[in-house]
Amino acid sequence: MIVDIINKKRLGEELSYKELDTIFNGYLNGEVADYQMSALLMAICINGMSDEETFALTKIFIDSGEILDFDELGVLVDKHSTGGIGDKVTLVIAPIVAACGCSVVKMSGRGLGYTGGTIDKLESIEGFRTDLTDEEIYEQVKKIGIVITGQTKDLAPMDKLIYALRDVTATVSSIPLIASSIMSKKIAGGADKILLDVKVGKGALISNKEDAEKFCELAIKIGKIYHREVRTKISDMNIPLGYAIGNSVEVLEAIDILQGKERDNYLVDLCYDLASEMISMGKGISKEEALALVDKSIEKGYAYQKFLELVKMQGGDLDKIKVSKKEKYIVSHKSGIINGIDALELGKLAVALGAGRSSKDEKIDHTVGIRLHYLVGEEVQKGATLATVYVNERLKIPKSRHIFDIQKKIN
Ligand code: URA
Repeated sequence: MIVDIINKKRLGEELSYKELDTIFNGYLNGEVADYQMSALLMAICINGMSDEETFALTKIFIDSGEILDFDELGVLVDKHSTGGIGDKVTLVIAPIVAACGCSVVKMSGRGLGYTGGTIDKLESIEGFRTDLTDEEIYEQVKKIGIVITGQTKDLAPMDKLIYALRDVTATVSSIPLIASSIMSKKIAGGADKILLDVKVGKGALISNKEDAEKFCELAIKIGKIYHREVRTKISDMNIPLGYAIGNSVEVLEAIDILQGKERDNYLVDLCYDLASEMISMGKGISKEEALALVDKSIEKGYAYQKFLELVKMQGGDLDKIKVSKKEKYIVSHKSGIINGIDALELGKLAVALGAGRSSKDEKIDHTVGIRLHYLVGEEVQKGATLATVYVNERLKIPKSRHIFDIQKKIN
């Protein structure tokens, strides 16, 4: 009985492949209710899963749908982030990597918890299609070497269903669930080389370094089972990534980076690092050689051209990207140096604005968001505008002291 399976996990016992298969496939078939699956997910979150259970769940997710095969197109590289605030890395690095000659098929997700999702961001470009079919994906990679689309409806459909439920039941931050979710999609999606961008900190799904390391180990083990090369990179997510948090505002920031207008900050360094790692994997060259290619792709405008090709091929119109005209401001409560910016508080504000979801079927507002005017380490004066908040509905904007940690300057 389903209740017995839930109870077994509540007691912290290991579930067999058969038990996991029964309850997860039951949910996919509509025989297990949302509330039962929510209870199981919560028990998993609290009591964890063994490696064996995680491998089993990954297989169940993979087997719930089709497995794509792009072998004819050569080596496919993919990257996946465990989710962060202001994380527009995919929008920047996928075009860079493709401009440097590696084929990229990136199947991305929607926002999860307080973290944004690439698909939501891309849908802020009017007309941009994120529902390409297998044939369209195949043709587009062959033609321009890059696709960013949503998980096709037949790819790990069980993950899609569970992901949406986790988002609204506070069950996102379980290492085995994150590992099965990400790795099942990457494996079913046909990637040969997988780079995992693992975020740790207040604004991430994974809050501490030990859990991040556990996740990396688990993902590498799953990769081995399916003969995929997996590399991992752990990075800080206590502060937001870059200046923008939201959907259209993040696309605009990604464009600035691709055009070489934004340089020398943590986000840009991370993008260059991850892009060169992917190119190094895809081309079998050193990271230094790959980094030189990345630099050139920005300098010469190749990466931005690739982004424009991608938007055009997927039907988007960049001229129609909208940011709300209604602005509110977060003003500095004192003078000093910015010591920290609370990514989680900004994530919560973005969801409250409507940039993310608080229930499964909620529509998001692509035009709202936040644009920071200062990053950590910069000096501000009392009364300076620290952030512009693009709103559409009446909403109380938090005071700067709840988001910005400003320390007196010591002369
Ligand atoms: N990204 C995913 O695809 N799945 C998760 O569970 C977390 C981040």
